[in-house]
Amino acid sequence: MSKPIAAGNEPVIIQLEQGKKYVWCSCGRSTRQPFCDGSHRGTGLEPVRFAVDETREAALCQCKETRNPPYCDGSHANSQ
Ligand code: FES
Repeated sequence: MSKPIAAGNEPVIIQLEQGKKYVWCSCGRSTRQPFCDGSHRGTGLEPVRFAVDETREAALCQCKETRNPPYCDGSHANSQ
């Protein structure tokens, strides 16, 4: 299995909408960060499907080292 690669070294703040389904890129290879574009194929990594209970802003991980995907947990601070 391939390792995730960082798509950025800071989270991206995004408005998430209630009722919408999201697919977060866990592999770092998508050109549509922070969301999956199918580029993980062949890596053994899978995206994270999620939704939110209410419309709100969230910080989504781009370093791909979070232990709370898809959300930033501050891990990017350890990988710089
Ligand atoms: Fe990265 Fe799909 S492109 S998980």
